Amino acid sequence: MGSALARSRKQRLASVVDPLQQALGEHFGWPAFRPGQREVVEALLAGRDCLAVLPTGAGKSLCYQLPALVREGLVLVISPLVALMQDQVAQLQRRGIAAACLHRDLGGGERQDLQRRLREGLLRLLYLAPERLQLESTQQLLDDLHGRGGLVALAVDEAHCISAWGHDFRPDYRRLGRLRQLCPGVPVVALSATAAPQVRADLIRLLQLKRPLVQVHSARRTNLAYTMQRRPDDPLPLVLEALEQSRGARLIYARTRRAVESWVARLNDAGHEAIAYHAGLEPGARQQALEHFQQHRQPVLVATIAFGMGVDRSDVGLVLHLALPASAEGYLQESGRAGRDGLPAHCLLLYSPGDRISLGWALAQAGADPADRQRAELAQQQLRRMESIAEGEGCREQALLQAVGELVPPCGRCDTCLAAPSRVQRDWSPSVLRVLAALEQQDGRELRALTRELQELDPAAEARWGWLARRLVQEQLIGESDDGAQRLYLRATGRHYLKRPWPLTWAATA
Ligand SMILES: Nc1ncnc2c1ncn2[C@@H]1O[C@H](COP(=O)(O)OP(=O)(O)OP(=O)(O)O)[C@@H](O)[C@H]1O
Ligand SMILES: [Mg+2]
Ligand SMILES: [Zn+2]
Repeated sequence: MGSALARSRKQRLASVVDPLQQALGEHFGWPAFRPGQREVVEALLAGRDCLAVLPTGAGKSLCYQLPALVREGLVLVISPLVALMQDQVAQLQRRGIAAACLHRDLGGGERQDLQRRLREGLLRLLYLAPERLQLESTQQLLDDLHGRGGLVALAVDEAHCISAWGHDFRPDYRRLGRLRQLCPGVPVVALSATAAPQVRADLIRLLQLKRPLVQVHSARRTNLAYTMQRRPDDPLPLVLEALEQSRGARLIYARTRRAVESWVARLNDAGHEAIAYHAGLEPGARQQALEHFQQHRQPVLVATIAFGMGVDRSDVGLVLHLALPASAEGYLQESGRAGRDGLPAHCLLLYSPGDRISLGWALAQAGADPADRQRAELAQQQLRRMESIAEGEGCREQALLQAVGELVPPCGRCDTCLAAPSRVQRDWSPSVLRVLAALEQQDGRELRALTRELQELDPAAEARWGWLARRLVQEQLIGESDDGAQRLYLRATGRHYLKRPWPLTWAATA
């Protein structure tokens, strides 16, 4: 007992004099580091490269922000989305921290002012879009800064964008490999919430991280509960219900600007004050939307993905997707906006089988370049995987995390976990045989034509043919063309199944 007391007093004393914790309190007002943060901050201060894979909302930004403040130098941050940079800069400025971003839309005067502050060493964080690194002027700037010894670290945020294996590959990120040469001796930190092992290996290789400190924590967010369900013809009642049942701020993701605008109008008509947020807004309106989202007690923001990712409010109680996301990794990040205060929050995903077709077509527009083709193929696979998670009857969280290479037990919170005891399983093999036989007769047919025909042949059959065919693609009994046309082919396993079927028991969710 006595020694425990002495230990806790010692810890308290240590925390009083611990300069890092002191700096954390001084600049951000937080009493303690979150898991993983201190390790990365210390490594950067010691000049060591880092790879930090920490869950959404874990506080990755702090890992590179604090070293700049402790050293009173500059940290350069590469970030893929202007909206993301602006949000972070605004948050830092509110805390009185000198931060700025350099991007294409900056006016001449603003740019000059920025350069002056850089020369005078007044800036702590500079956010940069990756394509800026190509510019002679940026390289000159880096040279100068480096020459004066004012660079504390280089941070590559959302670093999975550099990997062609990632879900959000950006060609501009590829050039970041040159960062190392531009500023030799300055530690580089790569950060991501969703980097599967293959992507991590890519990050280390492409960014030329030298003996990096690797901090990988589970991507699990134990306060989030996922629900995925088919989108009814009119989703409005469902959306209203979700809004009414949720706490805090609400974030709704729509796929296009048009969809954003029309949902804002519908929600306003239904008596919910909703605000649009997308790239088509004037800067003033954009600012207003952000402020509304930050300040209103229970705001409803309808945003496109690129813009929704740029908002950070800790008490988001609902993240609602109106359509199927493009990948499991992307969905983990987007839904990760919810519950950053650690309190329970809900992530609702409404999808329809048509979503994959429309998204798939967009992805199929790849050029003739083999690398582009390969990426388009990967994108189709990721899309199929996302659909199979939404249509599947397994635990949502477990399936999502599997996509980033993590094995966890069922969460017990998602819709499927909660429904598991009452769900009715049934053997689908007789219907499976009919789908496979139809393909054996005529291989390479489009999904839609096939389901229409099966429906006509047997209107009374209680089979959900489209769902079943997609399911068989997921089970790898059928192959599907990657061009977005959803042409189906019998695979060797499918032929085998026709000869020697086995029971396939699923609980239909469709
Ligand atoms: N040590 C801390 N104590 C309390 N709050 C913190 C701490 N570190 C960060 N935060 C807060 O946590 C929230 C999430 O931080 P941040 O945006 O850096 O997350 P992230 O890991 O980058 O997530 P994402 O992967 O979604 O980008 C912010 O609102 C931030 O202010
Ligand atoms: Mg972040
Ligand atoms: Zn679950």
